[in-house]
Amino acid sequence: MKLRNEIVLVSGANRGLGRALVQATLEAGAQRIYAGARDPAQLGEVLALAPDRIVPVALDITDERSRLAAAERAPDVSVLFNNAGVLASYSVLASRREDLLRDFEVNCFGMLDMTTAFLPALVRAGQRTTGNAVAAAVVNVLSITSICNMPAIGGYSASKSAAYSFTQALRCELAPKHIAVHGVLAGAMDTDMVRAMDMPKTPPLEAARNIVHAVEQGEEDILPESASRGMFEVWRNDPRELERTLAAATKPPGPA
Ligand SMILES: NC(=O)c1ccc[n+]([C@@H]2O[C@H](COP(=O)([O-])OP(=O)(O)OC[C@H]3O[C@@H](n4cnc5c(N)ncnc54)[C@H](OP(=O)(O)O)[C@@H]3O)[C@@H](O)[C@H]2O)c1
Repeated sequence: MKLRNEIVLVSGANRGLGRALVQATLEAGAQRIYAGARDPAQLGEVLALAPDRIVPVALDITDERSRLAAAERAPDVSVLFNNAGVLASYSVLASRREDLLRDFEVNCFGMLDMTTAFLPALVRAGQRTTGNAVAAAVVNVLSITSICNMPAIGGYSASKSAAYSFTQALRCELAPKHIAVHGVLAGAMDTDMVRAMDMPKTPPLEAARNIVHAVEQGEEDILPESASRGMFEVWRNDPRELERTLAAATKPPGPA
């Protein structure tokens, strides 16, 4: 579906890929963009992009009251970008249980609960069409590590795998309601999340523009930059080869 004149919400819009998605959806002609942030005071630069089209929304995706209040403030959303995420756990052996749980709470259940909270709006938007056409979309920002674990960030990867599985389930369940469900299998992007990691990274705005283009093309598994496209190709030919590559690329810390 085209984003022109659609009503978009982006979670985690105050920085990183989220901020870039606000800009990319703006460029694509979205009529209104709700910019979700835990601390809306951090949205100043984002709002300055187009004060007449961007609406700040206080939103902690792990907090039910916050989700419901956001869904009330933004009752007309037709395209939901579940972008907010954390990287809290690393090696599955060395990470603390609370950090593993944090990754699942935000990256997996937060994403699912956001979809549930905005489902009434998405269903209403979907009702604008009939047949096999779609008139609403959920875009889940996952990771290329959703399809193959990267041991150095093994706990995070596992949370993104679970989110990928939720994405597949949602795609099936929401198709009859004319709601497309996309999964973004992103590789490394130059944001705060991976600031400390030394590897090639794609500028977030480049990735965001590619994500928007892919949503408009109806791509279900979105590979927004060359690194993820390359890894996906390796995985398609031989999943164990990508597993070996990701294991060799990094040295996970051993158990304490
Ligand atoms: N960067 C990469 O290389 C990479 C690769 C693959 C996938 N991704 C995914 O891309 C997405 C965006 O990440 P990023 O790279 O832009 O990271 P980032 O710069 O660290 O930004 C993360 C964003 O998520 C928000 N957030 C975290 N927990 C939240 C919560 N409970 N409720 C609402 N917002 C919350 C943060 O808000 P605060 O400012 O309040 O913390 C921030 O806006 C994530 O899903 C991430 O897993 C990133």
